[in-house]
Amino acid sequence: MKDLQFKRHRRLRRTESMRALVRETHLRTDDLIYPIFVVEGQDIKNPVASMPGVHQVSLDHLTAEMEELVTRGIRSVIVFGVPAHKDEVGSEAYHEEGIVQRAIRQIKEEVPSLTVIADTCLCQYTDHGHCGIVRDGDIANDESLTYITQTAVTQAEAGADIIAPSNMMDGFVAAIRRGLDEAGFSHIPVMSYAVKFASAFYGPFRDAAHSSPQFGDRRAYQMDPSNRLEALREAESDVEEGADFLIVKPALAYLDIMREVKDRYNLPVVAYNVSGEYSMIKAAAQNGWVNEKEIVLEKLTAMKRAGADLIITYFAKDAADWLKEDQ
Ligand code: PBG
Ligand code: ZN
Repeated sequence: MKDLQFKRHRRLRRTESMRALVRETHLRTDDLIYPIFVVEGQDIKNPVASMPGVHQVSLDHLTAEMEELVTRGIRSVIVFGVPAHKDEVGSEAYHEEGIVQRAIRQIKEEVPSLTVIADTCLCQYTDHGHCGIVRDGDIANDESLTYITQTAVTQAEAGADIIAPSNMMDGFVAAIRRGLDEAGFSHIPVMSYAVKFASAFYGPFRDAAHSSPQFGDRRAYQMDPSNRLEALREAESDVEEGADFLIVKPALAYLDIMREVKDRYNLPVVAYNVSGEYSMIKAAAQNGWVNEKEIVLEKLTAMKRAGADLIITYFAKDAADWLKEDQ
C-alpha cells in the first residue's frame, strides 16, 4: 500500500455522533401530513383491506382520531371524503353539508390546533368516478372548473386552512384562486397537485376512497409517467396561476422530478407518498421481509433529500413515533 494515494471518506463515519454532525438531511414530524378518510354513517371505523393500519372513519370517531395525531406531534391533516351518494355532477363535493365540509368544521371546532388541508376533487363524488364532469364520454374541462371552484369555496367556508386541488384539469389553480379571492378567502393558500402522474401506485387509495373510474382511465388528464419536460410545464403554469405549494405525486418513482421542481421554483414542494408505496412496504413488512421502521425512515428521508419540504404519508403516525424513539 506504500505510496498509494486515496481519500479517507470514512473519517466522517466513525461514530454515531460524528455521523450526526455531518448529516445533510433531516426528517421532522412537522414535515408530515396525515391523510384521513371520512365516511357518512355512525360508529364506523372501517379497515381498508389493501392498506393495513388505515381506516375510513365516521364523524363520531373523527375527533378522537385527530386528538391521537396531536398527541403524537402531528400538526396537519389532509381530508378525503367518502360520500353516501354519488351522481353525474358530484353534488356532494360542493354541498355545504357534504361529508368533507362537516368533517372540516368539526376538526376546526374541536381540535383547532391542526392545520386542515382539503383535497379538492370530484372523483369520490361522481357516479362515473372521474375527476371532472363527463359530457358525451369526454371530460368537460372548463365546465368542471366551475364545480371544482365551488368545492374549494365551500371547503374554505367550512374552515379549511389550505385548499389542495387534485383534479388535473387545465386552469384549476387560476379558477380556484379567483373563486377563493372573490368569496373573501384571499388569505387561504392553494396546495396544488401540480405534477400528478397517471400511476398504478394509486390502486389501494381507490379502494379506500371508492373513487375508481367506472369507464376508461385518467390518462387524458393525469400525466404520462415518461414525461419530465411536461412535468415542468405543469408546475410552471401552476406557479403563474398562483399556487402556494407544489405537490409531486407519486413520490418514490418521481424523485428526479421533485428535485427539478424544487430547484426551479421558489415554493414549498410536497411529496405525496401514495397508497401503493405504503401498501408495498406494509405487505413486505408483514411477511418479515423488510424492517418496516428502517425502510420507511429511509424512504421519507430520500424524499426530503430529493427536495421535498413536506410529505403527505399514511406512515405519518408511525414515523412520528419512530422519530421520537430516535431522539
Ligand atoms: C384523485 C386522487 C388520487 C389520489 C388522491 N386523490 C389518485 C387517483 O385516484 O387518480 C391518490 C392517493 C394515493 O394513492 O394515496 N383525485
Ligand atoms: Zn380525483
